[in-house]
Amino acid sequence: MLKTLLVFVIGALIGGLVVWKLPALGQTAGKDAADQTKADAARVDLTALNNDVARLKSIVPSNSHIMEDVSFHYSNLWFAGQKKNWPLAMFYFNETRNHIRWLITKSPTAKTPEGEVVNLQGIFDGIDTSSLAMLKKSIEDKNSEDFNAKYKLMLEACYSCHKSAGRPYLRPMVPTVPPQAIINYNVEASWPS
Ligand code: HEC
Repeated sequence: MLKTLLVFVIGALIGGLVVWKLPALGQTAGKDAADQTKADAARVDLTALNNDVARLKSIVPSNSHIMEDVSFHYSNLWFAGQKKNWPLAMFYFNETRNHIRWLITKSPTAKTPEGEVVNLQGIFDGIDTSSLAMLKKSIEDKNSEDFNAKYKLMLEACYSCHKSAGRPYLRPMVPTVPPQAIINYNVEASWPS
């Protein structure tokens, strides 16, 4: 029994060795050529991939563009709040937050005009759990007075990030003119008859 097993194991080892060695023995000029073709194909793939990545990078919106969106949504939020249109206010709150998060996903670190690296992710995390969370609660509570105060508090948070990012001249303020005229801020908005 033991002998049979031993013969079997040795047989398997020899068999394995042969199979393992065979490809090396069979190496021919034909195989080299095939390898070369494969390597060339891989290089072509990599070049195409690099070109695609470069193209995609070139069409991603700039930080400035993303911030323009933030600015649009945050301005709309003010006017929705003034009309006590809380569902619309929550919509614009979420749009504002999501677009700031988009900036962070795209550029977790940004550079000041002087080239200093700024930890945008860290700044956002601080704002998200303070000013933004408080503003959200004022909307959930449908509390106009609190909303006005927290909206202004968040404006200071916007400004603090701009200062950290080396752009102290970008000072947001309470908007005086609605940024758009197509969405009705009124709660009783209905199709004009
Ligand atoms: C986590 C950091 C951060 C926060 C928070 C932030 N911003 Fe910005 N913002 C930036 C950076 C960085 C720029 C410069 C982008 C660029 O041009 O490269 C900028 C630019 C801007 C601009 C100028 C866009 C342009 O090019 O015309 C506006 C407007 C703006 N932000 C509005 C806001 C408002 C409103 C808020 C708050 C609701 C806010 N930002 C919150 C980082 C932030």
